[in-house]
Amino acid sequence: MRLAKRASHETPRRTRRGRRVVGAAFAALLGAAVLAPAAPAAADAPLRDHAAQQGFEIGAAIAPNHLQNDSQYADLAATEFNAATPENAMKWSVTEPSRNQFSFGQADAFMDFAQANNQKVRGHTLVWHSQLPSWVENGNFSRSELLSIMENHIDQVAGRYAGEIAYWDVANEIFLGDGSWRDSVFYRTLGPDFVAEALRMTAEADPNAELWLNDYSIDGINAKSDAYYNLIQDLIAQGVPIDGIGLQAHLINGQVPSSMQQNIQRFADLGIKVAITELDVRIQMPASQSELEQQARDYRAVMDACMNVNGCIGVTVWGVSDQYSWVPDTFEGQGAPLLFNENYQPKPAYDAVHEALGGTSDGGGDDGGGDDGGGDDGGGTSGPCAVSYSAANEWNTGFTGQITVTNNGGSALNGWELQFDFPSGQQLSNGWNAQWSQSGSTVTATNTSWNSTLAAGGSVSIGFNASHSGSNAEPESFTLNGQSCSVS
Ligand code: XIL
Repeated sequence: MRLAKRASHETPRRTRRGRRVVGAAFAALLGAAVLAPAAPAAADAPLRDHAAQQGFEIGAAIAPNHLQNDSQYADLAATEFNAATPENAMKWSVTEPSRNQFSFGQADAFMDFAQANNQKVRGHTLVWHSQLPSWVENGNFSRSELLSIMENHIDQVAGRYAGEIAYWDVANEIFLGDGSWRDSVFYRTLGPDFVAEALRMTAEADPNAELWLNDYSIDGINAKSDAYYNLIQDLIAQGVPIDGIGLQAHLINGQVPSSMQQNIQRFADLGIKVAITELDVRIQMPASQSELEQQARDYRAVMDACMNVNGCIGVTVWGVSDQYSWVPDTFEGQGAPLLFNENYQPKPAYDAVHEALGGTSDGGGDDGGGDDGGGDDGGGTSGPCAVSYSAANEWNTGFTGQITVTNNGGSALNGWELQFDFPSGQQLSNGWNAQWSQSGSTVTATNTSWNSTLAAGGSVSIGFNASHSGSNAEPESFTLNGQSCSVS
């Protein structure tokens, strides 16, 4: 139940409205600019130009102090990204360090930069157990007092930027790895309801913002992401406003969860949006060239997992360059997790993201159109392919099939067709991320318009639902563009 608003909110709200109303109108225009169909991007154009063409968001966490002190940082933050998240500037310890004493210098500086650069803003974050001032964290509040503290905080912070924030990470990191509730002052005092309360309070403070939950280690299917899946189903059933789930994706090099796309898909199937909100891929230092190349493949896999699912709206990296990443301070001995190195030079990971968005890579990209165009006819040199097939969610008369196809050849495939035979009378009903058909026992999956290019070394994940009549043997062989693939 909502608490009555305290009259003391009104004075500061009126004062600041004057300042931010211009920003709100401006933001509405900018929102339109970000989404307007863009002119075709040159092959080597910045990430945001390619992303804009696909209606996709490529974001970065941005820290206002670096914007002021480091022009290379500010330039890259502005040129490469069409979305932005304040790395720390909107957290509770920064915005309300003492009770009802609000401080918006950093948050305003961040907003000014994002708006000046037509960037969609993800507000981060309203209710979180961490970076919480001790007056909240260690307070011994009654239920009604904590609700009023939360409401005041959300009113002041989300209300200040109402109309200017596309998405709010309303509650952050509420579950533990085993899917149980994390202990926090909010959970201890209010029980699980604190999430619904926070969502409703944010909807009231900024009716235009989308309301999201956000967490780490929920990138693949596991106990923790299951907990979110169940919670979101409950929230929807109860009529609580919920618009999206952010998968932070603070990843370890070489460890992109294989079920990431399937996980994204299941949340999208609930009717909410999904985004990768804090992507970084950390490496044990010093990073070797081959580790940087592995990192590039990981970035590509994450990009593909999101871009392959309708409803996955964007990918945000947790920092602009390795120079200021939080990783070395947090994970001892690890670093180099981002797209640009400490000298602001693009890394292989940058090329991978660029290619995923439809641009060319630095290396091969300048050789005049051979890479995405005619380069793949390659005579007999197209190498083999690899397929992994799994029958997930099997029940007595049906199942969901997940297939990942990897192009192991030396050049991109411009258009692809995967074929296999169902060995025991299975019948396809529908599929996704490809155009699916079945004739006799032979199933054909052909690229869609948006995943037609399968880069050398790249993978595409596709899936389908099918029925069976008791026996569900797995297909034994697969061909990609007529060539037989290894099966794992
Ligand atoms: C991190 C920031 O990057 C650091 O600068 C800060 O010291 C700690 O927080 N999950 C989140 C982010 O939701 O807010 C965290 O950001 C990283 C983990």
